[in-house]
Amino acid sequence: MIEDLWYKNAIIYSLDLETFLDADGDGIGDFEGLCRRLDYLHALGVDAVWLAPFQPTPNRDNGYDIRDYYGVDPRHGSSGDFVAFMHQADKRGIKVIIDLVVNHTSDEHPWFQEARKAKDSRYRDWYVWSEKKPSDWNEGMVFPGVQKSTWTLDKKAGAYYFHRFFEFQPDLNVDHPEVREEIRKVMGYWLQLGVAGFRVDAVPFILESPSPGPAEPKLRFDYLYEMRRFLQWRKGDAVLLGEANVLPEDSRNYFGPQGEGIHLMFNFFVNQYLFYALATADVKPLAEALEATRALYPTAQWAHFLRNHDELDLGRLTDEQRQKVFDRFGPEETMQLYHRGIRRRLSPMLGSRPLTELAYSLLFSLPGAPVIRYGDEIGMGDDLRLPEREAVRTPMQWSNDPQAGFSASEKVVHPVVEEGPYAYPHLNVAAQRRDPGSLLNWMTALVRLRKECLEIGNGDWQILDTNGLPVLAMLYHRQGRSLVILHNFDEKPQEVALSLKQGRGSRLVDLMVDREETADAQGVHRILLDACGYRWFRAGDSSHLLPAS
Ligand code: NOJ
Repeated sequence: MIEDLWYKNAIIYSLDLETFLDADGDGIGDFEGLCRRLDYLHALGVDAVWLAPFQPTPNRDNGYDIRDYYGVDPRHGSSGDFVAFMHQADKRGIKVIIDLVVNHTSDEHPWFQEARKAKDSRYRDWYVWSEKKPSDWNEGMVFPGVQKSTWTLDKKAGAYYFHRFFEFQPDLNVDHPEVREEIRKVMGYWLQLGVAGFRVDAVPFILESPSPGPAEPKLRFDYLYEMRRFLQWRKGDAVLLGEANVLPEDSRNYFGPQGEGIHLMFNFFVNQYLFYALATADVKPLAEALEATRALYPTAQWAHFLRNHDELDLGRLTDEQRQKVFDRFGPEETMQLYHRGIRRRLSPMLGSRPLTELAYSLLFSLPGAPVIRYGDEIGMGDDLRLPEREAVRTPMQWSNDPQAGFSASEKVVHPVVEEGPYAYPHLNVAAQRRDPGSLLNWMTALVRLRKECLEIGNGDWQILDTNGLPVLAMLYHRQGRSLVILHNFDEKPQEVALSLKQGRGSRLVDLMVDREETADAQGVHRILLDACGYRWFRAGDSSHLLPAS
C-alpha cells in the first residue's frame, strides 16, 4: 500500500514560470518556454514540478497576490498554453503541483473591490473587517521591516481590513461558507485541468480566525481536513503539500492524527538545523530535529528542501545558533533578512563544491520527498543588489547566449547574474551538460540513485551512534532491504566505526563507487569518509541489518 503513494518518494522540482524560459521574447518566462524544457527536467529525473503562482496578478509579491483564480496571467501565456503544457508534462510522466494561495487575495481582486464598496456588499464578509482601529494593528507581521501593519484602514470601506502579509494582500474570511465553496471551486478547476496537487500557501494563517484584539490561538484544523476530503473525492491520488513553519509537536494536527490532513509538509524545522550542522559540524541538533519530526501517520510525508524562493528562515534556532549560521553563511548585513534569515542561494552560501555536494546528498537521504530549487542543480548564484527576497529569483542560466539563453529580449524580468564566479557566461546548463564532472551531471546521478532507494521514503529509519563524531549515520530498512548512509560534516576526514548486527565478514556495497566494506572479526565496519564526504551503502546481506545495541 505504502508503495502506491507516489509522493512518499517523489523528487520535486520547484520553479517560477517568470524566470524559467521566455519563449515569446517579452523578457518574462512562459508556459511555452517551460514546455521546451520539459525534456531537460525529464532527463534530470524529477517526478513532479511545483509551479509558483502563475494566475493573473498585479505581481507585487512574486504572484502571491492573485487577482483571478481561474486563469493564466497573460505574461505567461494563455489557458490553452497551460493545457498544452499539462499534456506535455503528462506524456513525460511529470506531475504538476501548483500553488494554492487562498489565505488572501490581491487587493485588486474583484471580490475585494466589491467588498470595500459597501457594508451590504455580497462580498463584504469574504474579508475580515474592523470598524475601529484594532489595538494590535501593528503586531504579527510576517515581513518585519518591510510590512508596517496587519490591519489597514481602507478609506472607501470606512473600515480596517486584516492582512497577515502585505497590505495589498487582504485575508479571506475562511469561516464564510461561500468562501469555502469558492475555494473548492478553485481546487476543482485546476484538478480538472490535471494538476497532481497543491502547494498550500501559508497554511497556519488560513486556519487562524483573525479578529481585532489579541489573537485567538485556536486553529481551524477541521477546515484543513475538509479541504483534504474534497481533494480526495475529486482526485484520489492528488496531494496537499503544506507550507507551515511550525514546531514538531504542532505538525501532528496538520497531518491529522489519523492522516486526514495534509499529505506532505515542508520540514522547516529540520531545514534550520541542517544549516546549523553545515555551519558548525555539530550534528546533534540535526539528529534531534529528525527525531522530533519522526512521528508520522504512515501515509503522511515530509518534504525536505535546502533553499526555496524565500529567505532561509532561521527563526527556530536559538540566538546563538542563528548567529553561528549568519557568521558562516550570511556574514554581511545585506545577506540577512527580517533579522531571522538569509537571502542567498545555496552555492554561494556554502561556498564550495564539497559542501554543496554534502548538502544535496544529505537532502536526498533524509526520510521524505526532496525538493530541488531551480538553478541549484547547476549551482546558480544570487544577486544581492536586488531588493529583499528577489536576490534569489534571477533567471535560469541555460547557456552563454545573451541573457543566459533565458530570453531574446534585452530587458528581462529580473537581471541575469552576469558578473563574478556565478555569472552565466561560464555557469550555465549547456556548459555543464558537456562536462562530465559538473554539478549538473553529479546531481543527475544522485537523482537516479535516490530513485533506486525507495527505503528512504517508505521505510523505517534510525540514526546510528557515531561516538560523538561530526558524522550523521542513518540506517533505512524496508521489506528486507537496507541502506546505510553517512555524511561527514567535518572539513577533516573521519573514520566511523559502525556495529551493525550483520556479523563478521558481512558486506556494505558502496552505491556511488565500485567499493565494498567488510565487517571485521567483531562485526564492526570501519568506514573512512573524506572531508565533507558522504557515502551511500546497501547491505550485501540486508535481511537483518540492525545496529547492535
Ligand atoms: C509564502 C510564500 O512562500 C511567500 O513567497 C509569500 O510572500 C507569502 N506566502 C505570502 O503569500
